[in-house]
Amino acid sequence: MTIMITGGSGQLGSEIIRQLRDAGRPFLAPQRAECDVTDVKQTKDFVYRCSPDIIIHCAAFTDVERAEEEQERAFLVNATGTKHIAEAASAVGAVLVYISTDYVFDGKKKDPYGEGDHPVPLNVYGRSKLAGEEAVREAISRHYIVRTSWVFGGAGPNFIKKILTLSKTKDTLKVVDDVMGSPTYTVDLAGAILRLIQTDRFGTFHLANGGACSWYDLAAEAIRLSGSGTTILPCSSEAYPSKAVRPRYSVLGNHKTQPLPQWQTAVKRYLASISV
Ligand SMILES: NC(=O)c1ccc[n+]([C@@H]2O[C@H](COP(=O)([O-])OP(=O)(O)OC[C@H]3O[C@@H](n4cnc5c(N)ncnc54)[C@H](OP(=O)(O)O)[C@@H]3O)[C@@H](O)[C@H]2O)c1
Repeated sequence: MTIMITGGSGQLGSEIIRQLRDAGRPFLAPQRAECDVTDVKQTKDFVYRCSPDIIIHCAAFTDVERAEEEQERAFLVNATGTKHIAEAASAVGAVLVYISTDYVFDGKKKDPYGEGDHPVPLNVYGRSKLAGEEAVREAISRHYIVRTSWVFGGAGPNFIKKILTLSKTKDTLKVVDDVMGSPTYTVDLAGAILRLIQTDRFGTFHLANGGACSWYDLAAEAIRLSGSGTTILPCSSEAYPSKAVRPRYSVLGNHKTQPLPQWQTAVKRYLASISV
């Protein structure tokens, strides 16, 4: 069984690769230069040549702010690129895993979003990822659409790393406390995806660490665990104006799979694994 991973240099893709390598399982992880998902010919040629059994599609345009200015590019990667991958997967009889986002929701709910809740994205990134979901549903029936949120882990920058880095030079940091979500550790997410693909229970799933918090709660917990003397102060999201409108509440309920560990224990394990 060969698994192909797109976006293998990213936060999630690199963790999936690490777990597959540790388990001694065969995988293919083409660089963007070998399989740029916006290039239909290159993408299909690659997939046809390698004929994987499963494709875990993590590649995406993930810069939420930049997507507001580069709408065409965001749709090209997240919607058209996903369509290319989904059609190629279908042609070779592979199963497809598409990673989607909590930003498909508008945040008007007050309790966790279930897999069946109606998506109404507020920003370009969310709309482009939802268009990717639709492309998957249309092109390939053997799919898993995995929505996740507030991802942190090994490769690349993330919110926790940023807070810990800032704490080295700042006595106080203001962090928004009026936006709630589900932080998700790549280690737990990658493990859950690799378990999910063994089930053959296709469809749409929410995979996020358990519990819910604000960005303020997440920063405060990371600072507390790190032993830093920096004080985290709550503030309103109006203190940090942004181009992209974000959902105020995008907590994901895992209603169809085993729950992932609580976010606090995930942050603790993550901090034990890094030195910032
Ligand atoms: N990060 C979050 O908080 C979050 C939350 C919810 C959902 N998600 C979803 O989770 C998935 C993984 O996110 P992540 O944070 O791991 O992403 P990431 O760290 O930003 O990595 C993105 C990956 O996509 C690749 N890529 C971008 N454009 C490409 C193209 N045209 N062709 C091929 N590869 C391309 C990048 O390759 P290069 O190295 O060449 O740039 C990189 O490997 C994405 O689908 C994202 O939408 C993320």
